Amino acid sequence: MFRNFKMVSQVVFGRGCFNQLDEILSFQRVKSSSFVVFLVDHVFENSEFKSRIPAHDQDMIIWADTDDEPKTSYVDKLVEKVKSFSSDLPAGVVGIGGGSAMDLAKAVSLMLANPGSAADYQGWDLIKKPAVWHAAVPTLSGTGAEVSRTTVLTGPQKKLGINSDYTVFDQIVLDPELIAGVPKEQWFYTGMDCYIHCVESLQGTFLNAFSQSYGEKSMDLCREVFLQDPSDSADKLMMASYFGGMSIAYSQVGICHALSYGLSFVLGLHHGIGNSVAFDYLEEYYPEGVREFRQMMEKHEIMLPRNLVSGLSDEKLEKMIDVALVLSPLWENALGKDWAEIMTRDKIRQLYQRM
Ligand SMILES: NC(=O)c1ccc[n+]([C@@H]2O[C@H](COP(=O)([O-])OP(=O)(O)OC[C@H]3O[C@@H](n4cnc5c(N)ncnc54)[C@H](O)[C@@H]3O)[C@@H](O)[C@H]2O)c1
Ligand SMILES: [Fe+2]
Repeated sequence: MFRNFKMVSQVVFGRGCFNQLDEILSFQRVKSSSFVVFLVDHVFENSEFKSRIPAHDQDMIIWADTDDEPKTSYVDKLVEKVKSFSSDLPAGVVGIGGGSAMDLAKAVSLMLANPGSAADYQGWDLIKKPAVWHAAVPTLSGTGAEVSRTTVLTGPQKKLGINSDYTVFDQIVLDPELIAGVPKEQWFYTGMDCYIHCVESLQGTFLNAFSQSYGEKSMDLCREVFLQDPSDSADKLMMASYFGGMSIAYSQVGICHALSYGLSFVLGLHHGIGNSVAFDYLEEYYPEGVREFRQMMEKHEIMLPRNLVSGLSDEKLEKMIDVALVLSPLWENALGKDWAEIMTRDKIRQLYQRM
C-alpha cells in the first residue's frame, strides 16, 4: 500500500504576505458573529508585531506559553478556554509562532471537534472527526510543522504526535519577514531540525523519488543558509523547512529524532537543541551529515551543551530508552526491518551515556 496523504490546501508565500491574513480569514467568517482564535507565541505579547494581528472585536487572542514544548494537559486547558469563551465553535484557529505555537493550533482545532483529552489521540489515525479550519503563520523556520500531518505532544506517558489527515493545516502564510528577528541560537537549532530531517530522510530505507526530490532541494537550501549566508537567507530557510517537511511526509526521520524524543521527554530539552545534541554523536550512522553539521556549528560559533545524561538515575535513563524505542517507524527507516537486532537497549544506553 502506498501512502495517500493529505497536503496543506492553500499556501501564500512572500515578504509582507502576512498583511493578507485578514482577507484570507474573511472567507471563513460566514456569520457576523463568527470568531477566530489567534494562538500566538507569548514572545510577541509586548512587541510591535502584536498590533499587526488582524483580530476583530469578537475574536480571541491566546498568548501561547512555549517555555515548555506542548503538553496534552496544556492543549486540554486551551480547549476549555475556547469553549468557555463561546458556545459556538470558532470559524478558524490561527497559530502564529514556531513549531510549538503551530502544533498547539493544530491540536486545539482537532480537540474542539473531538471528545476527550488530547492524550487519547497520541498515535496514528485515531482522530475521527475533521478539525475546525486551521491556519499557520510561522515566525521561526525549520520544524516543517507548517506542512506535516502531526502535532507533537508530550503526554503523561509518552512524547508522541497526533498523526492524522485532519491535523494538516488548511492554510499557511509564509512571510519571510516574520522570521528575521529570531535570536541566533534559536535560529540555528530550529534550522538544524530541518537539516537533520533531510539527512535522515535521504539516508533512510523508506526513501523514494518523491521524498528525495524535496529532501535534496531542502538540503541545498540549508547548505546555502548555514554555510554561505545569502542575502535572502530567511526566504531560503522558510522554503527549506517546507521542503524538508514534505520530504519526511513520504518517508520518515531516523535515529537522531528517536533519541531526541527521549532527551526531551526526560530532560525537557527542546526539539531543535535535543536533535543537535544527539546528532553530534551519530557519526557512525550519518558520517557526512555530522561532518557538515560540525562545520555549520563552527561557522556560527555554536557551543552544544554537554554531559547532560551523566549523573542521571538509572530509572530516568531507562525511561529515556523506552521513549526512544516506541518510535519503531523511525528506527526501521534508519536501519531496515531488522533494526531491533542492530539497535538494542544496550546500544541506545551507550549512545545516551555519551551525551
Ligand atoms: N509537527 C511537526 O511536524 C513538528 C516537527 C518538528 C518539531 N515539532 C515541534 O516543534 C517544537 C519546536 O519548534 P521550534 O523549534 O520552531 O521552536 P518553538 O516554537 O518551541 O520556539 C522556540 C522559542 O523561539 C521563540 N520564538 C518563536 N518565534 C520567534 C521570533 N520570530 N522571534 C523571537 N523569538 C521567537 C519562542 O517564543 C520560543 O521561546 C517542538 O515542540 C517540537 O516537538 C513539530
Ligand atoms: Fe524534527
